[in-house]
Amino acid sequence: MYEHLTIVKHPLVQHKLTLMRDKDTPTAVFRQLLREISQLLAYEITRELEMTTRRIETPLCEMDAPVLAGKKLALVSILRAGNGLLDGVLELVPSARVGYVGLYRDEKTLLPVQYYYKVPTDLEDRLVIVLDPMLATGNSSAAAVDLLKASGANNIRFMCLLAAPEGVARMGQAHPDVPIVTAAVDECLNEHGYIVPGLGDAGDRMFGTR
Ligand code: URA
Repeated sequence: MYEHLTIVKHPLVQHKLTLMRDKDTPTAVFRQLLREISQLLAYEITRELEMTTRRIETPLCEMDAPVLAGKKLALVSILRAGNGLLDGVLELVPSARVGYVGLYRDEKTLLPVQYYYKVPTDLEDRLVIVLDPMLATGNSSAAAVDLLKASGANNIRFMCLLAAPEGVARMGQAHPDVPIVTAAVDECLNEHGYIVPGLGDAGDRMFGTR
């Protein structure tokens, strides 16, 4: 398996993921669980953020206390399901900059086509965390990372809830410099490109569409 892959096996993550997989879990609960898991995944993906110290005064004395160094993070949501991860991560990192990438799959070529792209400036100075709950074929994720690299991003990490081995392999081959953090890697993709056993269409389940 891809060496830059982290599977977050924390019991809370795995328990919440099971609830999300259950087809009888209602939309509002699904959305809330995704928000909660996104924060646990964010804890893992930001583990090695650069730190510095700041001189502060506690009620008792002065101290050099640890604070985050460098420019604010950039969070980039792959529309539309990425927004389900975005809200929770933004609660933890409220000053992060936010970008959006919109891609759809061309029916004939099956390749991703860009319809929206708006990202923060100075991507080259920021840690960029790409958010997409489902890493399935990996085609749109790899295309989104291509676009971000073309915009100057050089420190990118990818956060998803579920991955297929095919998607992990595709990302590993296209962007071996991009670590992936996920809650699970499932068995395979089916003939329609769904992750199996998976949880169905993440966008539909979080927005109540079909
Ligand atoms: N996108 C989804 O929402 N679900 C899958 O299983 C695969 C891609």
